[in-house]
Amino acid sequence: MNPLTNPTAQAVDNVLIYIFGFSLILLLGITAVTVYFVIRYRRSKCPEPTSQAHGHLGLEILWTVLPTLIVLTMFWYGWSNYLGLRQVPDNALEIKATARMWSWQFQYPDGRRESKLYVPVGTPIKVIMTSVDVLHSFFAPAFRVKRDTVPGMETYVWFTATEPGSYDIFCAEYCGTGHADMITTIEALNAEDYQQWSQPVVSAEPRGLTVLNEQGCTGCHSLDGSEGIAPSLFQLAGAERALVRGDRGEIIAIDSDYLHRAIRQPEIELVEGYDPMMPPYDEQTISEDDLQAVINYLMGTATAEPKPDARQLLEDNGCLGCHSTDGSLIVGPTFKGIGQRGVTLERDGKTVEIQVDADYLRRALLKPNEEIVQGFAPMMPAADYLSTAEIEALVEYLLTQ
Ligand code: CUA
Repeated sequence: MNPLTNPTAQAVDNVLIYIFGFSLILLLGITAVTVYFVIRYRRSKCPEPTSQAHGHLGLEILWTVLPTLIVLTMFWYGWSNYLGLRQVPDNALEIKATARMWSWQFQYPDGRRESKLYVPVGTPIKVIMTSVDVLHSFFAPAFRVKRDTVPGMETYVWFTATEPGSYDIFCAEYCGTGHADMITTIEALNAEDYQQWSQPVVSAEPRGLTVLNEQGCTGCHSLDGSEGIAPSLFQLAGAERALVRGDRGEIIAIDSDYLHRAIRQPEIELVEGYDPMMPPYDEQTISEDDLQAVINYLMGTATAEPKPDARQLLEDNGCLGCHSTDGSLIVGPTFKGIGQRGVTLERDGKTVEIQVDADYLRRALLKPNEEIVQGFAPMMPAADYLSTAEIEALVEYLLTQ
């Protein structure tokens, strides 16, 4: 979504159109005259070069002054609009942004932290930015704002969202392995939704999980066992890990003490096969209480992550557009009674009969077109973008339909 009604986008676009417009007119004009001269004064027509205009003062002045004026107007127009991008309106809402390898964190005046930038529509937002490790760059193309974030220094951009919606934020400065994943969004909410969002939430989510999300840990460490640029946090308690400490290797069983060290001083012990990339999280960044909550969560002594809502997943992923839950036929087989029935499948050109079980449902979700239910067309997209936990929740739900 790219509405051009917001002030920063308009400032940039107007200058771009102005400079581009002039350049285009000149390009076309000069090219046309060149082509005309090439034809009009070709060698066969004018074998000897002759000049009728020598030292025409008026012409000389005209083509010196005119381009100078054009270039000066471009400068003046660009400069005044650039100043508009740097002068923040007085009523702007200030939000702090912290960039780190490889996530963004936004902190609101009331202390709330988020990994997405939630803003009210119509209010100018001043994003005051810094970085805790290397150079990153905050780039919100919809608002035409881009600024580096620099360790030990504050920089800022401002923008106003004029329409509710979700707008991309990219990191526009190469910052290492996870640079391309350093993506989040500006969520522009209308007044009512923003009001609701800013209510203090009584979260059913365990505190440790909230901290992991707020701090952007999940940008590098998965929670479901999938491999990323850093070790997964799935089922950590008691798991054996090969660590490298200096030039010595060692195998340990993960416990609370290890997790504490791994978060406060991650550079000291490395999990074998991974590079030392994680920045240390000191007490200013994660308080001792929050760190304890994270450790409790990871060790599984706190409530586990809420189970994915299977019914919601079916709705959100559009499954119910093709599969009914009431026995009626849409495009795909109905989900009603799917756990209790046998199906006839076409597999590798052969026809087989099987009883539906968890294994079959997993295959049907992840590789739907390898086995086709007889009488149906192979048209379902693979749901391989779902996490393991989500797939398991769906399988369990479907078996009981
Ligand atoms: Cu951060 Cu690129």
